[in-house]
Amino acid sequence: MDRIHIVGGAKLHGVIPISGAKNAALPLMIASLLTGETLELANVPRLADITALLRILGNHGVDHMVVGKRPGQTTETGQTIRLTASNVIDTTAPYDLVSTMRASFWVIAPLLARFGEARVSMPGGCAIGTRPVDLLLMAMEQLGATIEIDGGYVVARTKNGLRGGEIHFPKVTVGGTHVALMAAVLANGTTVIENAAREPEVVDLAACLTKMGARIQGAGTPRIVVEGVSRLNGTRHEVLPDRIETGTYAMAVAMTGGDVTLENTRADLLHSALDILATTGTEVTPTADGIRVRRNGAGVAAVDVTTDPFPGFPTDLQAQFMALMTRARGQSHIRETIFENRFMHVQELARLGARIRLEGDLAVVEGVDRLKGAPVMATDLRASVSLVIAGLAAEGETIINRVYHLDRGFEALEAKLGRCGAEIRRERA
Ligand code: EPU
Repeated sequence: MDRIHIVGGAKLHGVIPISGAKNAALPLMIASLLTGETLELANVPRLADITALLRILGNHGVDHMVVGKRPGQTTETGQTIRLTASNVIDTTAPYDLVSTMRASFWVIAPLLARFGEARVSMPGGCAIGTRPVDLLLMAMEQLGATIEIDGGYVVARTKNGLRGGEIHFPKVTVGGTHVALMAAVLANGTTVIENAAREPEVVDLAACLTKMGARIQGAGTPRIVVEGVSRLNGTRHEVLPDRIETGTYAMAVAMTGGDVTLENTRADLLHSALDILATTGTEVTPTADGIRVRRNGAGVAAVDVTTDPFPGFPTDLQAQFMALMTRARGQSHIRETIFENRFMHVQELARLGARIRLEGDLAVVEGVDRLKGAPVMATDLRASVSLVIAGLAAEGETIINRVYHLDRGFEALEAKLGRCGAEIRRERA
């Protein structure tokens, strides 16, 4: 298995291009199942999760074509993928494919909406909690689907097509909102989704579906209204920038010090996360096509954070923020409210010398003067990258094992950090 070696201590200086958002690209690719016409997606990141989903869609019969390089493009310019689901031959998503990535479970909604049935294995994904699918199933039932569990598979069926209905989520769920949207766009009648997720990735999916002919109002608010249509058409859509990748590199700069411009991204996608970063003593300035992040000399101030659905502080940046707080002056409190088991990075950060105490959903971090490099390993994507950030600021060498987690969600990580002066390299197995 590949490993990443980091020798910490260098300040970061330069420009980091931000990729398209993994968590927007995945539901957008799945939305291709809603039409027999071609959906062209631009700015798709080159990531293991994208490749895995292409295999899953291919298994249903979706053709895909990756558009070749064009003038002015580099290997890091997002790729353009054309997806055509004109010949879906299989509405089953098997265990060996779905178990590798939780988001692939979402194929259940477009398959059900367009073909009246779907048989999808119960999902896998990162080890960050139990992550049930009860609310996703409830959403489809509210639109008239019958749901059965059979041999580890969820079987969803509808006799005469889905019909509009009321979906009230008792808890904000991003995946539940994606599923509700994709089911409702082809349902007969009007659907109201209450307590919908407001994440930018939901807004991006709704924007693409609207270009495909769907009638959606209120995406980005807690109440989304969808008027079903009988068919959707193909379109072209550009995936929005990855706010988690943006926030991760911003925190890396906050941690090491330096001056980096994150380009092809948007400050408004990060909301409170950037405000919180600013209170740690990091200068954060929006630019024409991105964000400039600077920290010089002064130390990092300790700040308390609670994760929340958008526009709150994202759970997907919690581990990275904790890495930053390990070097802060004083004590900070980090509360995780979205997933019950998302503190796997704590014991690994401790290997680098961090002082963190866990009390249920709360991590109490005592800032230390220095971290020291060590071999570490992480069990999920965001936890892994928090170890990279900590390694960049630690003395000596940090070796990150199980790099495949990073490859699921961070495009060209070593190249992007290396060009800004980080001493980072991949050892291929
Ligand atoms: N939940 C339920 N029942 C359900 C669905 C969710 O109880 O049927 C709970 C979950 O267990 C969790 C909470 O609701 O406690 C929120 O989960 P949500 O459904 O919002 O998460 P998700 O859709 O499975 C997406 C991202 C995650 C991100 C979360 C929260 C993708 C592909 N995944 O997951 O991203 O952490 O929203 O923002 O969009 C990552 O990229 O590393 C990642 C884990």
